[in-house]
Amino acid sequence: MCGIVGAVAQRDVAQILVEGLKRLEYRGYDSAGLAVINAEGNIARLRRLGKVRALEEALVQEPASGGTGIAHTRWATHGAPSEANAHPHISGDNIALVHNGIIENHELLRNYLQEQGYTFVSETDTEVIAHLVHHEQKQGLSLLEALQKAVHRLEGAYGTVVMDRNDPERLVVARSGSPLVIGVGIGEYFVASDQLALLPVTHRFIFLEEGDVAEITREGVSIFDSAGLPVEREVVDSDLDHEAGDKGPYRHFMLKEIFEQPDAIASTLEDRMTAETIVLESFGHRAVEILRRVRAVQIIACGTSYHAAMVARYWFETYGIACRVEIASEFRYRKAFVPDDCLFLTISQSGETADTLAALRMAKEQGFMSSMTICNVPGSSLVRESDMAFMTRAGAEIGVASTKAFTTQLTALLMLVTATARATGRIDAEQEAEIVRELRELPHMIRNVLTLDDAIQQLSQAFADKHHSLFLGRGTMYPIAMEGALKLKEISYIHAEAYAAGELKHGPLALIDSDMPVVVVAPNNELLEKLKSNMEEVRARGGQLYVFADRHARLVAGDGIQVIPLEKVHDIVAPIIYTIPLQLLSYYVAIIKGTDVDQPRNLAKSVTVE
Ligand code: G6P
Repeated sequence: MCGIVGAVAQRDVAQILVEGLKRLEYRGYDSAGLAVINAEGNIARLRRLGKVRALEEALVQEPASGGTGIAHTRWATHGAPSEANAHPHISGDNIALVHNGIIENHELLRNYLQEQGYTFVSETDTEVIAHLVHHEQKQGLSLLEALQKAVHRLEGAYGTVVMDRNDPERLVVARSGSPLVIGVGIGEYFVASDQLALLPVTHRFIFLEEGDVAEITREGVSIFDSAGLPVEREVVDSDLDHEAGDKGPYRHFMLKEIFEQPDAIASTLEDRMTAETIVLESFGHRAVEILRRVRAVQIIACGTSYHAAMVARYWFETYGIACRVEIASEFRYRKAFVPDDCLFLTISQSGETADTLAALRMAKEQGFMSSMTICNVPGSSLVRESDMAFMTRAGAEIGVASTKAFTTQLTALLMLVTATARATGRIDAEQEAEIVRELRELPHMIRNVLTLDDAIQQLSQAFADKHHSLFLGRGTMYPIAMEGALKLKEISYIHAEAYAAGELKHGPLALIDSDMPVVVVAPNNELLEKLKSNMEEVRARGGQLYVFADRHARLVAGDGIQVIPLEKVHDIVAPIIYTIPLQLLSYYVAIIKGTDVDQPRNLAKSVTVE
């Protein structure tokens, strides 16, 4: 969702800006634009509807050279996707600005600015910020002061970068509710909404904090907090791989990321377990003391991360720890009951999901014992604002449909459940050692499942011409069925619904016919016999079953039933293993349908607005 890149350098920055935008493409957007201050001291602006490629081609026709520039990919919120609404927005003949987030009081400000003589040329909320900065500057303020003054009048969320052609070697930036990171070069500085955009030019970053306003020149950075006082922010060396944004030999990021899962999980486990125990300190230096007191857990997440949370509920409660799970956008608008000694846990790939972040901020006022996040992006808002953070180390995930982030979240959650159960005396050393052994085996087991690639590709043909599908599971496999259905609908646009198999009779059975494929996730566990009865209910009504099952589950392929056998796995890790074939299935169906796998229509990778 919306991306920002900016640079102040001695070299031409247009290509750096475009490369940065490409690296943010995965977030989802509908138009792109850039502006640089050229040798004549003018603002050269180019904007295009559609892909960054279109902007790049436009740049060949109309080259824009200059050492100071800003660029943006826009995901429409206020005003349709169009060139006129694309950023950068310009005010007067000197101010150019890009913005992520939503300005909630934009109408009020628009009226005020119109009274001051400003004419609006777009339908965006962003344009008010450009005019506001311009307006403040006219009162005799410097660019920095004008932005500081302007942001005081904004309600909502923003990450914004501003330049002024009359002050060509400077960018001023502000963040509140939408992330910004400054890239530190040698004699040059950069800014972006995600460090990934800047990896080709630097690995040294300063993460701005909520309310920060900063001034960036070729010589350095000055940062001021929300009270306007100068502050120092640490320079962090990133260990993110430069290649993180490349597909390598894979046709899509999603396929690359599916195949990266064994390594992503191995790295999530690394240094965090001894041969038989989970290292409690991996959850933070205060974790030992906090986890010992946990009697209940409240988990909040959105999308795929919510499905990980649902699996964790089964795990926590297996070991006698009360656990509730809720979607962030619901939780944040209701009054929730806070049990004693309750850990508030958020799960998020990006660490920037607006609703999850808002829920965390609200929870801090509500008397939870402590907060923890399971997150994939170091330095993200959730990581910084939670008491404890456990990083999933999946590496950059580019495909909008989450894959390796999900299985590493599950891995992290199983570690947390085990650590909490052990710290509170609910499992003994032997039980802990058994789980640790299973965790350690995960990368190997996933490599095995990935060998089903060809078989699943074959199977996908049965789905490509369908309009609806059903996914069934019981127990921990119910959220996995939900995740499988979400993957299919996200990238192939086939309507997919997931049901706890026991609910079939209460409605979905009415939908069953030969045109509605039914996917079943069936490891060999205590619910298998129940699940088999559910499958018979489908078969008896002419439904077509596609079953991912333990090879020892004695399920025989036949009329109306195809079986894809998996090796036997321990019940506790089954949700992680059985996710993989569902990811591959949705990927191959999308390939046949020819959809945009990595950037499905209307979706964004990181949902930083409400
Ligand atoms: C978006 C993404 C999903 C993701 C969800 C939650 O919808 O497309 O892949 O699961 O946001 O994001 P988070 O970063 O908080 O896990």
